[in-house]
Amino acid sequence: MLTATEEERSRISKELHDGTGQQLSALKLGLQSVSKSMADEKQREQLEEIATSFSKSADEVRHISHQMMPRALMEKGLVEAIEDLLQSSFQYTDTNYSFEHHNINGRFEERIEVSIYRVIQELINNIIKHAGAQTVTVQLIKQKGNLLLFLEDNGKDMNQESTDGHGLLNIKSRLDMINGTVNWSPGSEKGTFVTVKIAL
Ligand SMILES: Nc1ncnc2c1ncn2[C@@H]1O[C@H](COP(=O)(O)OP(=O)(O)O)[C@@H](O)[C@H]1O
Ligand SMILES: [Mg+2]
Repeated sequence: MLTATEEERSRISKELHDGTGQQLSALKLGLQSVSKSMADEKQREQLEEIATSFSKSADEVRHISHQMMPRALMEKGLVEAIEDLLQSSFQYTDTNYSFEHHNINGRFEERIEVSIYRVIQELINNIIKHAGAQTVTVQLIKQKGNLLLFLEDNGKDMNQESTDGHGLLNIKSRLDMINGTVNWSPGSEKGTFVTVKIAL
């Protein structure tokens, strides 16, 4: 069911981006060019306002499309998609992050890339929602036929009884489907250290 959902997301994301999003941008440009040829200043202003609204709608559609299935993931792979995700997730927070990767050259199977991306997305959401961390480190490593992800925050300790929330269960079942495991442990000083291992 998760695979079907991801395929559907990917399809809708493309439609939104290449269809609706492009149309709205084209409408905006059309309106702007009509408004330039208008003699009446009031009408010109009104058309400019409408063009601005179209532009905002186009941005919104692009944003939704991106949330559904990041373009960077489909086109450029995990590393760039993770960089984008970290940048956009933490840009309005006080959290510093670092991202390192080793030996990640080339692409992985799509279901692996999508799964690990969704897992990181939820782990980051959790950090933002629950941890209040100052720093977050993310490492992605390919080693001996395994893909390893280490994600550490130095925020609030994670209550060990809270490991059956929906988000955490989703992470486990996503990883189950691709021969992956996940483990939560206390961070090196405080906070939470998450290890994900996927057999390639
Ligand atoms: N990085 C984290 N730091 C501190 N607590 C966490 C962290 N991640 C998860 N938790 C705790 O685990 C619980 C379950 O997480 P989750 O299943 O994602 O549910 P939700 O995010 O919807 O509350 C959270 O409510 C929170 O108490
Ligand atoms: Mg959550």
